[in-house]
Amino acid sequence: MASQQVDQQKGIDLAIVLAAGEGTRMKSSLAKVLHTIAGKTIIHHVLDAVTPVAKELSIVVGAHREAVEAHLSEIAPSAKLVHQAERNGTGHAVQLALADTSISGSVLVVAGDTPLLRTSTLREFIEAHVELESVASVLTAVLPDPFGYGRIVRDELGAIVRIVEERDADDDQKLIDEINTGVYIFDIDALRDASKKLTAENSQGELYLTDVISLIKGSGKVSVAIQSNDFTETLGINDRSQLADCAGIMRDRINDEHMRSGVSIIDPLTTWIDSTVQISADVTILPGTALHGSTKIASEALIGPRTTLTNVKVAQGAVIIESRATDAEIGAGASVGPFSFIRPGTHLAANSKVGAYVEIKSSTIGEGSKVPHLTYVGDATIGKGTNIGAATIFVNYDGVEKHQTVVGDHVRVGSDTMLVAPVTIGDGAYTAAGSIITEDVPAGAIGVARAKQRNVLGWVLRRRSGTKSEQAAREAGATD
Ligand code: UD1
Ligand code: CA
Repeated sequence: MASQQVDQQKGIDLAIVLAAGEGTRMKSSLAKVLHTIAGKTIIHHVLDAVTPVAKELSIVVGAHREAVEAHLSEIAPSAKLVHQAERNGTGHAVQLALADTSISGSVLVVAGDTPLLRTSTLREFIEAHVELESVASVLTAVLPDPFGYGRIVRDELGAIVRIVEERDADDDQKLIDEINTGVYIFDIDALRDASKKLTAENSQGELYLTDVISLIKGSGKVSVAIQSNDFTETLGINDRSQLADCAGIMRDRINDEHMRSGVSIIDPLTTWIDSTVQISADVTILPGTALHGSTKIASEALIGPRTTLTNVKVAQGAVIIESRATDAEIGAGASVGPFSFIRPGTHLAANSKVGAYVEIKSSTIGEGSKVPHLTYVGDATIGKGTNIGAATIFVNYDGVEKHQTVVGDHVRVGSDTMLVAPVTIGDGAYTAAGSIITEDVPAGAIGVARAKQRNVLGWVLRRRSGTKSEQAAREAGATD
């Protein structure tokens, strides 16, 4: 029953996504559709928009085929992949996809390089296509700068006549600001017929999918151009500058959504949040902050400024200032930073504190424990209520292997202690400042592991005579 309901939402029988192009204008060794925006590849965004409206999915791949197919097998395992060995144009790509299917009904064609497209826009487009009883529909948009796009040529009555590419357009056609978004719906049989008639008589010597519109119209069937009202959705990415433009639009969209759901974003222009990140209401995000991957932030947390979190779970009321964290958990009310580096496998329990210039990896800091200053903690378990003195180093690496350190509850590790792992500090124990601890310290003991101090009286007066130190010492009453 549930799946039937979903299927009713899927008004399109087959969606063809074109992703075989070289992406030459990107000047990249990475396939164009594999470049990322807001934590997802360009093609992933396109599939997110298309999948909810289409029963079947075919994706045409070619350039950088191995990498693109490997990615698609992860994000769209049930899609059919069609190989376009020779890139003979968008029309050729669609011919191959059609040759590979016997589906009848409606087909949606979308370019794999328009990541801002929304499912809701596709639904409106489908609705218009059905209402107008169209056989071939193209989604258009009016752009402030239409350069590079196919232009929509309409007749005196406003009906679409054909689409002309930038490179084939004359001066008058170049002035047209209504463009082809590269999103179409066809009756699949009409598309099949028309696509057989495509020729490569154009400046690029390719089969243009855009020509099927005039071919179908020429055969007396209904062809329509439907204008979308948000042109930003239909922007295609051909080069790095367009990649940055689209990323900026996506950033604004994501930030707007969070702000509407109660997140305070102080400077949306410098706040970059992946589409995969979850943030609760009443979180505050300060400028220059980037949140990536599966990061999830609970209410009343304060993040930033200039903080980067990747796959980090932040509990309620935690504060992370000017820091970087990856694959970590930050407990409720915990505080981090400024200037700390929280590496994978770190778990900070509730109300713990990690202060300035602290690096932590693969370690647990217990409830209410503090690592306030200039410290490295690696491969350690620290209990609750413990304080790690400034400039403590957990010496976890013997040059070959990593070893564990265990520090109990309510321990006081003196400043500048070296805890040479493997080593255990018992509950309630102390270490003396400056100690190099190589043996376990039992509960309640103090570990002292440093040279005993001796003072050589008058040394400065004898060996540094004539210096300001000597003078100061004499003024303080020091004598030989
Ligand atoms: C295309 C349209 C143009 C439209 C624009 C919208 C044509 C001829 N032109 O131009 O009217 O305004 O999209 O963004 O269709 N591809 C293949 N196989 C190929 C060639 C391309 O799969 O042989 C794929 C590309 O990977 C890309 C999509 O088709 O995802 C569009 O190709 P692209 O070269 O970017 O076309 P545009 O010049 O942008
Ligand atoms: Ca394009």
